[in-house]
Amino acid sequence: MNAQAASEAVEDRVEELLSEMTLEEKVGQMTQIDFSVVGVPVAPGEEPPIDRARLEDAVINRHVGSILNTPFTPFNKAIPIETWRKITAAIQETSSRTRLKIPVIYGIDAIHGATYTQGSVLFPQAISMAATFNPELSFKEGEITAREVRASGLHWNFSPVMDIGRQPLWPRLWETYGEDVHLASVMGTAYIKGHQGDDFSAPDKVPTCLKHYVGYSFPINGKDRTPAWIGERMLREYFLPTFEAGVQAGSPTIMVNSAEVDGIPGHANYQYLTTILRGELGFKGIAVSDWEDIKRLYTRDRLAASPKEAVKIAVMAGVDMSMVPFDFTFYDLLVELAQAGEVPMSRIDEAVSRILTVKFQTGLFDPERPVLPVEGHFATPEALETNRQAARESIILAKNDNHILPLKKDARILVTGPTANLLSVMNGGWTITWQGDNESLYPQDKLTVFEALQKKSAGKVTYVGGQAFNDPIDIGKVVAEAKNHDYVLLALGEKPYTETLGNIDSLMLDQAQIDLANAVIASGKPVILLTLGGRPRIITAIADKVPGVILGFLPGMEGGEAIADILYGDYNPNGKLPISYPRNTNDIVLYDHKPIETFESNTYKPLYPFGHGLSYTTFETRGLSVDKARIRGDENIAVHVTVKNTGMLKGKETVLLYLNDVAASVTRPVKQLKAFRKVELEPGQEQSLSFTLTPRDLSFIGVDMKRIVEPGEFKVMVGNETAGFFVTE
Ligand code: BGC
Repeated sequence: MNAQAASEAVEDRVEELLSEMTLEEKVGQMTQIDFSVVGVPVAPGEEPPIDRARLEDAVINRHVGSILNTPFTPFNKAIPIETWRKITAAIQETSSRTRLKIPVIYGIDAIHGATYTQGSVLFPQAISMAATFNPELSFKEGEITAREVRASGLHWNFSPVMDIGRQPLWPRLWETYGEDVHLASVMGTAYIKGHQGDDFSAPDKVPTCLKHYVGYSFPINGKDRTPAWIGERMLREYFLPTFEAGVQAGSPTIMVNSAEVDGIPGHANYQYLTTILRGELGFKGIAVSDWEDIKRLYTRDRLAASPKEAVKIAVMAGVDMSMVPFDFTFYDLLVELAQAGEVPMSRIDEAVSRILTVKFQTGLFDPERPVLPVEGHFATPEALETNRQAARESIILAKNDNHILPLKKDARILVTGPTANLLSVMNGGWTITWQGDNESLYPQDKLTVFEALQKKSAGKVTYVGGQAFNDPIDIGKVVAEAKNHDYVLLALGEKPYTETLGNIDSLMLDQAQIDLANAVIASGKPVILLTLGGRPRIITAIADKVPGVILGFLPGMEGGEAIADILYGDYNPNGKLPISYPRNTNDIVLYDHKPIETFESNTYKPLYPFGHGLSYTTFETRGLSVDKARIRGDENIAVHVTVKNTGMLKGKETVLLYLNDVAASVTRPVKQLKAFRKVELEPGQEQSLSFTLTPRDLSFIGVDMKRIVEPGEFKVMVGNETAGFFVTE
């Protein structure tokens, strides 16, 4: 069957099913509950941790369409894959006993791999995947994650985050692909394509969910779930395009912004959820609420005068499924609203058809489709190798004065600092637990930075520090030990966190880390600074005084080995910054700033700019040219450039192509990334690259809020070169 015929067949089946459903059955489909509603804390014997009576009540009596989250046993954490398979099998067996046998879709936060399945392959987090500038790795991450989610018997992944990371204080910055619209669109869509393939009913594919539509990532005060003030032009230029790209890549579900933009909570925003998402972006799938957020229109936002009004507002704004998550109030209230005619049946039918369509597309109605076997599909050696490669390509060498790096394997290295000997600090939130901070649950066979260095060095590496992130470090001992070593590796940064629990008041490092750094620097030994964590904490004063700086962000489970590979020169670093690394805590100017931000005494002076990242070899780009001097606004233009490895080592380089619209009726960024390509070159080798810029690349949101290409001069920039062309009337 071709795609067109398949989609018509699904439409027919949905219509037929819908015509048989009662109001209660329909509203049940729109209800998503947390697993704890049907779970028991500890399962007796071999049983899955399910309370059968409560499961039957939810699925058979309340017609619940979806369940999410990992069991509470006695807290939410990753569980064995066999337990997952039993849980999902028990739920499907229960739904097969309902009148219409509509399967339950089980959703999970598999943020950088299958978070809640023990032993899964956990990749670098999105900020670090972005630092690889390698969409192929993002595609493979999607493939592997989908496989491991499906082998766990799960059906729906609440990933990727398509929010843009333009507010460094925000505790979910690391869940984004960074500050740039193009980079985030490319990395996010590659992930979706790997995750879903051409047909996500395939036994190893899973539907994705674009989060968190839209404007969630830009809280004005930097705290999670607080207001953003985003004007329509800014929304259309910076925040919508990544979601548009995700919709075009075929993601069939979208999760709503848990906070508010311009005074309107995400869950009440008809303009965003219906007019723009459906009308303009052409999205046909499910809009699912975020956690408890329909209720919060009443309990938190005071937008609704009652819980019932909250349900009405959200459903009428365009939310199709409610992540309630702990009770059946949404179900009860929506049934009442529909019976009273306050929510029209047409709106309920619309939401339910979207939900049923995704269930059909996911293959859930196909009883023949067995759960993917674990053997050969879970934590395979190839997947681990891909993860190791992703981790290596994510590490950013930011400073390397006098080629202090790489270090020799017989160098005596003192390793210290709160992030040197923990796995959690390399993985961040959504790792085994929600906050990712339970080090004792981390796999024993993965190596911390210290352990990986020790393994490679044959006993020349010493660690002085604590066992947990907040353990005090004996500075006197560190300084005394430094005397017996050739180098100090100083590992600073952040402990894991996500969402509101990660809120901070300043990007400054805590005093204990600053004191440790000052003492280590004063010891006179050469210091290599390594940072790990989800946000760019301010390191300026330290970085200025040390010869080597490595920015690790959140490189995942293989991060320790990847960092050791780079420190010892077993791998030539090639990661690049997907954000501007601020010099000071209020120095938040991004690379694609407006001219006014660098006018007169204003400057763009981050500690390290967007796209920065060194290698142990050197590269040069030259011969930048465009194939036409003049084009019409509806034409493409080709750009050519040659990149050469001018150093002594094989290495990878990402060539970044920026564009500037020289004069326009709306102020334009001084430059914007429009294309990039990562190449691997032997010493002395060169390669010619060609890029195509499309009218969309030249366009912006005009005075009347419509996307336009304006005639006039444009500049393209690669490395130190600039080439120009004109768009004619
Ligand atoms: C987060 C979402 C997540 C959801 C389900 C929410 O608190 O904002 O990103 O998908 O919980 O766990």
